Amino acid sequence: MASLKNLLFLSLLFHSLLIIKCDDEEDNLLQGINQYRASLNLTALIKNDRAECLAGEVADQFKGQPCTNTTGSATIPGTEPQYPNFPQFLSKCHLNVTTTRDGQIMPACVPNLDPSLVISNFTKSQYSEYLNSTNFSGIGVNSEGNWIVVVLTTNTPEGSYSVGTNKDNGGSRLNPIGYLVFLLVGFFVLL
Ligand SMILES: *[C@@H]1O[C@H](CO)[C@@H](O)[C@H](O)[C@H]1NC(C)=O
Ligand SMILES: *[C@@H]1O[C@H](CO)[C@@H](O)[C@H](O)[C@H]1NC(C)=O
Ligand SMILES: *[C@@H]1O[C@H](CO)[C@@H](O)[C@H](O)[C@H]1NC(C)=O
Ligand SMILES: *[C@@H]1O[C@H](CO)[C@@H](O)[C@H](O)[C@H]1NC(C)=O
Ligand SMILES: *[C@@H]1O[C@H](CO)[C@@H](O)[C@H](O)[C@H]1NC(C)=O
Ligand SMILES: *[C@@H]1O[C@H](CO)[C@@H](O)[C@H](O)[C@H]1NC(C)=O
Repeated sequence: MASLKNLLFLSLLFHSLLIIKCDDEEDNLLQGINQYRASLNLTALIKNDRAECLAGEVADQFKGQPCTNTTGSATIPGTEPQYPNFPQFLSKCHLNVTTTRDGQIMPACVPNLDPSLVISNFTKSQYSEYLNSTNFSGIGVNSEGNWIVVVLTTNTPEGSYSVGTNKDNGGSRLNPIGYLVFLLVGFFVLL
């Protein structure tokens, strides 16, 4: 019984380390993008939970696809990836097509999500057109494997990714608060 508890504890610890690591890359990119915008005298983008959820769904679709010179930020214009499950992504994130139309979805593939390559894949690629724009005001970042996805939102009704009728933005993932609760509960179970 004791060893089972130890195993559970180690597994919780391990998972919490993984989650923290993963969030780091996303927060780094978000900060990097806002520093880039500050250097252009543009307003900082504000984190949007539903855009982050959608970014997660898109990253999940790409997960496992290798990085090539025609994927992600190097995609040749006119051959942008299609999202056959987009309606499901939207409903998972409690969004709909009306409020997401003017948003921008930008997937990038970088082996091991090397931080300096990740930021340059956005600021020094065709994506810079969107990062340079005053149209956007919100951002969601998520990653899976070697893929990291940025979703930009506007402050117009057509791209606000607004809450609409939905309160739960969690999508298919446990958010950090949910994870903390999970860890605490696990901790008390162990005592
Ligand atoms: C940003 O604003 C500062 C102060 O107003 C100005 O000196 C600088 O040239 C501006 N930079 C850009 C990229 O517009
Ligand atoms: C991508 O790489 C392949 C082979 O590595 C090369 O033939 C092709 O020209 C490259 N395409 C671009 C757009 O750089
Ligand atoms: C984007 O990342 C790839 C690695 O997958 C790298 O080869 C490429 O140089 C990066 N592009 C830019 C513009 O930084
Ligand atoms: C975005 O702004 C940067 C800095 O002014 C510039 O180098 C880059 O070419 C711009 N990107 C596009 C697509 O216009
Ligand atoms: C910004 O919005 C205007 C008006 O809707 C549009 O014409 C333009 O293409 C947008 N720019 C970007 C970079 O999305
Ligand atoms: C999307 O949600 C908004 C807000 O809840 C609603 O006004 C709109 O009619 C919905 N659009 C569709 C296509 O369901």
